[in-house]
Amino acid sequence: MQDRQSIHGSWASRWTFILAATGSSVGLGNIWKFPYIAGENGGGAFVLMYLVCIALVGIPIMMAEVLLGRRGRQSPVNTLKDMAIEIGTTKRWAWIGLCGVAAGIMILSFYSVVSGWVIAYVVYAAEGTFTGAGVEQIGKVFNDLLADPQELVLWHTLFMIVVAGTVARGVNKGLEAGIRVLMPMLFALLLLLLVYAITAGDFAAGWDFMFHVDFGALSWEAVLIAMGHAFFTLSLGMGSIMVYGSYMPKKASIGGTVLTVAGLDTLVALIAGLAIFPLVFGNQLDPGAGPGLMLVTLPVAFGNMAGGQIFGFLFFAMVAIAAWSSAISLLEPVVAYVVERYKIGRTSACVILSGFVWVLGVGALGSFNFGSDWSFFGFNFFDLLDFMTANIMLPLGGLLVCIFTGWWVGKKITADELNMKSELVFNSWFFVVRFIAPVAVAIVFIANLWQKFAG
Ligand code: PFF
Repeated sequence: MQDRQSIHGSWASRWTFILAATGSSVGLGNIWKFPYIAGENGGGAFVLMYLVCIALVGIPIMMAEVLLGRRGRQSPVNTLKDMAIEIGTTKRWAWIGLCGVAAGIMILSFYSVVSGWVIAYVVYAAEGTFTGAGVEQIGKVFNDLLADPQELVLWHTLFMIVVAGTVARGVNKGLEAGIRVLMPMLFALLLLLLVYAITAGDFAAGWDFMFHVDFGALSWEAVLIAMGHAFFTLSLGMGSIMVYGSYMPKKASIGGTVLTVAGLDTLVALIAGLAIFPLVFGNQLDPGAGPGLMLVTLPVAFGNMAGGQIFGFLFFAMVAIAAWSSAISLLEPVVAYVVERYKIGRTSACVILSGFVWVLGVGALGSFNFGSDWSFFGFNFFDLLDFMTANIMLPLGGLLVCIFTGWWVGKKITADELNMKSELVFNSWFFVVRFIAPVAVAIVFIANLWQKFAG
């Protein structure tokens, strides 16, 4: 089984995998979601929990996903199925992959809606809508956008067409060249924005908010959110990284590669926070503003700085690109599965699946207008999709991947696939995957349920 080739293609080199996996993990999660959930959940203590989750749970699970993918060389469902057959256990482990397929479709539907907001903002920035505007004016721009289902559907549709078009063209074509240029540009722009925040905002207050740890401000729910976000931001628990691993060259070292990807992802999230919060405090805005943080607060800064029009345009264009390179990784495992399972072409699979995602997305964007009074367990539909996936399905998927890898696949196969130079490092990883990560995920889940139940 180890010498298989994927029918879907393979990355040219280890670096291509790093770029693609970084493209997958760096996205709206880093620039839009991380700053606002850190803002809502008290700052420093939350950021610390997030870092602990990345190190203790995220990185080891990412290694597990990549190694399973590379060994199985198929969509996550079939990779897990064949691994289960290889080790002589029940094929039901493939259900983790099926749950991932559902999660991918659900995440992509609301992800595409948010990406649509970002595309709208690219246009607004180019038109000079933010120039000289205050918080109230820009708040109105955002609220007007949310209240207009037609405009939201337009941007959502455009984004889905671009994403489906890219995935339909295959793993190699277009993607690699694009990512190679765009990822460094994203980094450069974020750094530029950071410099602006240091000079124009209240950097000390922003820094203090992000790194001053006050555990009193931390609830179990915040820990669950931090953990869920670690999965979301690293694209774990639903098969994105597993399917990317299945296109990875055999010789590449998994450990170093995964550390690079996770390191870059974390760096982007921290820089995004350090670029946004100084501006928030400098303008006496609310760090707990929620999802509008990037879409109301930042444009205020752009609208009031020299060169802000072009800079704001470039910033939102970069965010859209980051969203695009993540969205394709949400669709890829689902498409790979449908192609394998139903023996249909990639293009047909993309059309059918993205149509499905599109419909769900229209439901999600309705939460802000025509469906604002639909309520599911106290959530609107958009928030339900977000909560169910990030806080339940991804951690659960990750937990099961851990258990499968640590307890079923076992030492021999994982050691062979990881091929680490240091036995100590390998044993530590194996211990974490067997004990620490699953226990940590389980504790956070149970504590959270307990708190909800008791409180
Ligand atoms: N990691 C992406 C982000 O941070 O925006 C989102 C994402 C992609 C989540 C792929 C899950 C996934 F499987």
